[in-house]
Amino acid sequence: MLSEKMTEALNEQANRELYSSYLYLSMSAYFESINMKGLASWMRVQAGEELVHTMKMYDYVISSGGRARMLAVEEPRFAWGSPLEAFQQVWDHERAVTGLIKALAGVAEAEKDQATRSFLQWYIDEQVEEEESSDMVLNKVKAAGQNEAALQAVDRELGQRKFKFPRGFNMFPYGGTP
Ligand code: FEO
Repeated sequence: MLSEKMTEALNEQANRELYSSYLYLSMSAYFESINMKGLASWMRVQAGEELVHTMKMYDYVISSGGRARMLAVEEPRFAWGSPLEAFQQVWDHERAVTGLIKALAGVAEAEKDQATRSFLQWYIDEQVEEEESSDMVLNKVKAAGQNEAALQAVDRELGQRKFKFPRGFNMFPYGGTP
């Protein structure tokens, strides 16, 4: 059974994960608006992953006897000056999320809630990957600079990214067809 404090902290983090999804969807729409379909697709996959992060936490709260609460989602930024500016924000944002996840793990430790601390290890590991991938993409966009042909090549390459549900995660546990 989750403590009230733990439930509240998990609900807040689920809200931040949903905000991350919203932020990346906003970036996807920005890339659509400047006709960079590959980057729009990469961001859409990223938004999907953040939605999974949200739902995994939502499911955990419920399965642990807590009450999932839908907090208001902040409106993300609408436009960026360049792809580089957007990917710089991805990198900054992911580092900030890592800090939030570590603080959440700290709450679980303070509450002596080993089950939640163990659940959060997946997020800690995921953040290592998220930081790595955002760093890799930022470097590609940086290297392309203002060179239009190089940016188009990055757009094509990043457009290859495919969405995959994490192993063992079922977004629709009560059934449904994709
Ligand atoms: Fe769910 Fe990218 O942090």
